[in-house]
Amino acid sequence: MAIEIASTSVFDVQAERPRPKDVGILAMDMYVPKRCVSEEELEVFDGVSKGKYTIGLGQSYMAFVDDREDINSIALTVVSSLMKRFDIDPRSIGRLDVGTETIIDKSKSVKTVLMDLFKECGNHDIEGLDSKNACYGSTAAVQNATNWIESRSWDGRNAIVFTGDIAVYAKGGARAVGGAGACAILIGPNAPLVFEPIHGTYMANTYEFYKPNLHSEYPTVDGPLSVSTYIAAMDAAYSAFRSKVATATKSFNPSAIPETEAGNKVDEKSVFSLADVDYPVYHSPYGKQVQKGHARLLFMDYLSAPHKPKFANIDPSFLDLPYPQTINSKEIEKSFMALSKADYAARVSLSMRCASRCGNMYTASLYGGLASLLSTVDAATLKGKRISMYAFGGGCASTFWTMRVKGDVSEIAKKMDLLKRLESMDVVSCEEYTEGLQLREDNHNLAPYQPQGDIKNIWPRAFYLDGIGSMFRRKYVQA
Ligand code: ACO
Repeated sequence: MAIEIASTSVFDVQAERPRPKDVGILAMDMYVPKRCVSEEELEVFDGVSKGKYTIGLGQSYMAFVDDREDINSIALTVVSSLMKRFDIDPRSIGRLDVGTETIIDKSKSVKTVLMDLFKECGNHDIEGLDSKNACYGSTAAVQNATNWIESRSWDGRNAIVFTGDIAVYAKGGARAVGGAGACAILIGPNAPLVFEPIHGTYMANTYEFYKPNLHSEYPTVDGPLSVSTYIAAMDAAYSAFRSKVATATKSFNPSAIPETEAGNKVDEKSVFSLADVDYPVYHSPYGKQVQKGHARLLFMDYLSAPHKPKFANIDPSFLDLPYPQTINSKEIEKSFMALSKADYAARVSLSMRCASRCGNMYTASLYGGLASLLSTVDAATLKGKRISMYAFGGGCASTFWTMRVKGDVSEIAKKMDLLKRLESMDVVSCEEYTEGLQLREDNHNLAPYQPQGDIKNIWPRAFYLDGIGSMFRRKYVQA
């Protein structure tokens, strides 16, 4: 039997509903582990030269968890905490997307585990599943949730994104750039923090950071290649973004792009620059990489407008270098690091509070950056400002995009209470950190398994792994 309302089907009515406005972030919460280790102490413990981790890699502390926590328990902790802190009715959620690269099951999604939080109220009508590609899955999840709300299938409810990871590396050079942490985001219309519609994306098939060994949590990494891929992908994503802004600007206002003396339009890439952003936020594998990334975007601005006074002291021979040679050029990196140093301190360092306490949180790093910014700059100052986001995941996927603070974000910052929570983490010995990681390594994928980590290292009300049965079924309880 056809479902009709007068001559129009209900499906047409649904499709023609007014589109939601100002879709963006309504609420946010972070999960930070209870324990972290000092990178300064780790330099001594690992026997590397003083300053290698703290100055060379720009690291301060690194969070970690032992075998009592996994990606499911962390997801349960932060999503339940988001709902509690912001008094979210679980029936008001129509979509839940997950972005993580911490894989404990090749089939069953983390999302399905999170459905336990909606069981009591009987809400099983929640779309969305897991997105995976290294540190980029979070941004794919945010895009999926946003696109659902802006689509014809939207049913009027809000979406939640969970993103987080346990970032661990095998013993050796990369171990100092690990970390852990997670973020939960409530997305919906009429938000104080609104997503802007233009994205510049670069994706390609590269092999610099991947996890082909399913018997281990550790990635396979080509360190130097991962660093140059981060930069090359950033160049391409930023250029794609600027081209789209230029195209949109032209169709919006054809006279907006100035003529050159020869009568041709100037390079369209010159339309958007870092000066159009108030607070740039970057995916942070480690502190130094963010400084280098910010410097790199300034170099991209230089390439399209070298005549600007701020570039007066830059060596003009950089303009003659073939582009591929610029990626690993230490001279370019050094010049633009120096030029952007004060700007980094004024605008970028504000988003580094989570990263400097928790280290790399993989998918959650970029959103931990955003949470740090909201916690560091007061809401009145943030109002009206534009924030740029650079998402990157090895393998590789990257997007440069922006959001606008349209409303009052003070409630988000207040309820998140992030800085106090970062401060209250326990700084423990390097021995304890190493034992924690060893427990994870020795017992990875075992079943049946009884976790050995002490539950005194779990925050009150956080979820933790109680045990794994002989059929690999995991049981979680709340502290
Ligand atoms: N004092 C001050 N600086 C020092 C010291 C010291 N005692 N010792 C070394 N440094 C500097 C080096 O000069 C170097 O500086 P530079 O980057 O400006 O050239 C920096 O510290 C790092 O030193 P390296 O010897 O290059 O360090 P390492 O060989 O350990 O490699 C790397 C660093 C590649 C980041 C490694 O930690 C790694 O593989 N990490 C994992 C992958 C990663 O995070 N990649 C980033 C992209 S995003 C991602 O894929 C997760």
